[in-house]
Amino acid sequence: MSIQKPKGTQDLLPGEVEKWQYLESKARELCQRFNYKEIRSPIFESTELFSRGVGETTDIVEKEMYTFMDKGDRSISLRPEGTAGVVRAFVENKLYGIPDLTKLYYIGPMFRYEQPQAGRYRQFHQFGIEAFGSVDPSIDAEVIALGYTFYKEIGLKEVTVEINSVGTPSVRTAYREQLQAFFAPVKEKLCKDCQSRYDRNPMRILDCKIDAKYGEGAPDILEFLDEECTTHFNQVKEHLAAMDIPFRINPRLVRGLDYYTHTAFEYKAAGIGAIDTIGGGGRYNGLVGQIGGHGTDQPGVGLGLGLERILLVLQAQGVEIPKPEPLDVYLIGLGEAAEKQITKLLQQLRVQGLKAEKDYQGRKMKAQMKSADRFNATYVAILGDDELERGEITLKKMDTGTQVTVSLADLAANAAKTLFA
Ligand code: HAM
Repeated sequence: MSIQKPKGTQDLLPGEVEKWQYLESKARELCQRFNYKEIRSPIFESTELFSRGVGETTDIVEKEMYTFMDKGDRSISLRPEGTAGVVRAFVENKLYGIPDLTKLYYIGPMFRYEQPQAGRYRQFHQFGIEAFGSVDPSIDAEVIALGYTFYKEIGLKEVTVEINSVGTPSVRTAYREQLQAFFAPVKEKLCKDCQSRYDRNPMRILDCKIDAKYGEGAPDILEFLDEECTTHFNQVKEHLAAMDIPFRINPRLVRGLDYYTHTAFEYKAAGIGAIDTIGGGGRYNGLVGQIGGHGTDQPGVGLGLGLERILLVLQAQGVEIPKPEPLDVYLIGLGEAAEKQITKLLQQLRVQGLKAEKDYQGRKMKAQMKSADRFNATYVAILGDDELERGEITLKKMDTGTQVTVSLADLAANAAKTLFA
């Protein structure tokens, strides 16, 4: 059998990849406006970074990481998410010493060994941001606003923002106890995963679709928030309202990663079968110190948006992504001398910034014209040996079919002016 791509991965071919380039360029441009700078950190890291950062008892670390020993006997994992690596880079490069906030963004592949389905892959891509150095609720709101603005600007409709506060570790300890007491009578009836979550991470039971009926009437974390948490949450809401970002409070919102404190949020949109979460994030005070140790700690807040899911929802909503620009000119040489001249002209046009192409397969004129059509060329430039002797070349405008003869020297010297003036 021939070799096939690994399960849960995708080949992004021309025709499709332009949509990715479009999303990526929109993300970069948006980050410039919000003053986030790009960071590129490794795709693989020490396994310990993720067990310490993302959390030992999360599904991601327990079941979903691509972990292997390298030839130097180090345990390495492909990154299942972006935050831990960015935090490591922040610490290792001593960015915590910078007086301004450090606002970073990244776009790239992440890896999780999950059961593939529509919108769930083993290699997927995130556009993520992380802002370090402030506990101000306005930065939580800024992060939420950036994600929302991104979705709006690429044309996604009906995106819902859900927010919650997951409090601080001490708030959660009290809440966990109450949740365990609540679930104790039905513990044996919970699914296998939730039975093990019961002891280690009972908040995750609230997130389980299978056991949703047992979660009805469970206590809300919002009732357990202390004054500091409540004030922070209220201020985030006020900033969001001031920015005209619509949101819904979901006290059941539990993220699948352990590092969150205070604000947690998700973006939801319909259109990918059973999956409706297209992005998420939150605040993570304490994570930097946990990874970097004493003296490095800085609060952080960020988000991760799944690019595959965005494209699926765009498709389901019938949103057109702008098509890439067409080829400016397709050059056809008829005869030996003319063909040589075409090679030279092609290089001259490309150097001048035009998108230009020619035939490389010795095909007849008719086949070359079809090729120009497939490339959506604006012009075809046809050069025969006779024309070459006269120093001329014929231009055919593909949409109207009109033809003109122009000076070959003029085209070579200033193609843009000759074609588009
Ligand atoms: P996350 O919720 O695990 O958060 O992932 C963020 C987004 O990545 C999801 O909402 C989804 O769109 C996409 N995603 C996750 N898993 C898959 C998958 N298997 N296939 C396709 N798309 C997927 C994080 O990763 C956090 N690091 C976000 C964050 C940044 N929090 C603070 N800063």
